[in-house]
Amino acid sequence: MTDPLIAAIADPGARDLVERAQRASKKAYAKHSEFFVGAAIRTASDKIHVGCNVENDSYGLTICAERNAVFAAVTREGRGVQVEAVGLYARTDRPGTLNTVSPCGACRQVLWQFCTPTTSVTFLENRAYTTRLLSDLLPSPFDFT
Ligand code: THU
Repeated sequence: MTDPLIAAIADPGARDLVERAQRASKKAYAKHSEFFVGAAIRTASDKIHVGCNVENDSYGLTICAERNAVFAAVTREGRGVQVEAVGLYARTDRPGTLNTVSPCGACRQVLWQFCTPTTSVTFLENRAYTTRLLSDLLPSPFDFT
């Protein structure tokens, strides 16, 4: 069944990314948190790469969906890849409602490494999908140049 919150995303490109993120979240390995996350990235060459979160019994080795998507993009397209847009989706079996699922700080920094001035992220905020510039989500990135 189509998620009404996803169906309400006005921009077709952003909606497509969140739908792909939803499909990717079905592969998530989230045995500890039961928080199933998917991320989809559209690059400057108009390719799409996805990732899901992969947890580990050694908890700190867990990796987020967004980082897996970035690493897939670099692996497939090479080090010059440019992330144009990102869509996120998360679902949990735990009781309660998800209100906001924004990318964690570590993932914002990893996305920034391959971003452009217009890189945008679509994610759930206060029970509605919103699209924000990565530069607004991470105004002072670590830049080693
Ligand atoms: N997680 C993500 O995949 N992306 C985020 O931006 C935040 C958290 C994952 C990591 C872990 O598997 C679960 O969500 C709970 O933190």
